[in-house]
Amino acid sequence: MSVALHLVSDPIPFYLPTGNECALFEHAWHHRLPVLLKGPTGCGKTRFVAHMAARLGRRLHTVSCHDDLTAADLTGRFLLRGGDTAWVDGPLTTAVREGGICYLDEVVEARRDVAVVIHPLTDDRRILPLDRTGETLHAPDGFMLVASYNPGYQNVMKAMKPSTRQRFVAISFDFPAPEAELRIVTAESGLAPERCLPLVTLAARLRALKGMDLEEGCSTRLVVYCATLIAARMSLRDAVMAAMIEPLTDDDDVKKGLLDVMRATLG
Ligand SMILES: Nc1ncnc2c1ncn2[C@@H]1O[C@H](COP(=O)(O)OP(=O)(O)OP(=O)(O)O)[C@@H](O)[C@H]1O
Ligand SMILES: [Mg+2]
Repeated sequence: MSVALHLVSDPIPFYLPTGNECALFEHAWHHRLPVLLKGPTGCGKTRFVAHMAARLGRRLHTVSCHDDLTAADLTGRFLLRGGDTAWVDGPLTTAVREGGICYLDEVVEARRDVAVVIHPLTDDRRILPLDRTGETLHAPDGFMLVASYNPGYQNVMKAMKPSTRQRFVAISFDFPAPEAELRIVTAESGLAPERCLPLVTLAARLRALKGMDLEEGCSTRLVVYCATLIAARMSLRDAVMAAMIEPLTDDDDVKKGLLDVMRATLG
């Protein structure tokens, strides 16, 4: 299981708002409501949570969910320590105890028993029963549960149950508008705005192909990668190939189509 911990003392990560998401998140936190972030890969969900946690002065415990992730991975377990067994809190339990933010990334991937754990925490009870230790933790005001998923990859087996979805305030994310994306890519890569502009234009055109040929549009993350490679003196063509074309498809015909769009855009 991968768990990342952001410390309160870390600087506030850069996040450019694209709507009212910051105010919404703050209201949700102040009113002890859990938040669900929906949106395509690489559009800024993880960055947004890191930014908001730092702004609110909360420690952030990020758990990347996968199909083997069980409730015990989140709550904790007894582990052998020397000759003894000792209870070790999982990231969710730690976040509840200290009043931090627990972020379950790609929550639909997790096993079904995870819902059992998050249900009593995400309604007005805000409790975490730890069956194995006999404790029932009451989440302090500072605690918040945030979950995210990409609706594009959802399959019927993995769809979130209404009883889970309807415990969250939901915020929908999408790729930023070109002006905003230009600011993001410039800030993240350090490349001059006039050199980022064609990449942002290309990304928008590649996104228009989504559904027709591509499962998912070119992410802001990939545009940042591309600009970063160019800032490191890679040629425009090589960088676009490596960061904005190759990651999108394995299909030669589709790739040809993407290359046509690239030539038409970059000249
Ligand atoms: N609004 C934004 N402000 C600042 N940076 C952004 C923004 N949106 C996207 N980015 C950039 O795009 C990159 C990818 O964003 P992020 O990792 O948050 O995507 P994500 O939505 O969590 O994707 P995934 O679903 O794949 O986890 C960030 O590292 C950052 O460089
Ligand atoms: Mg993410």
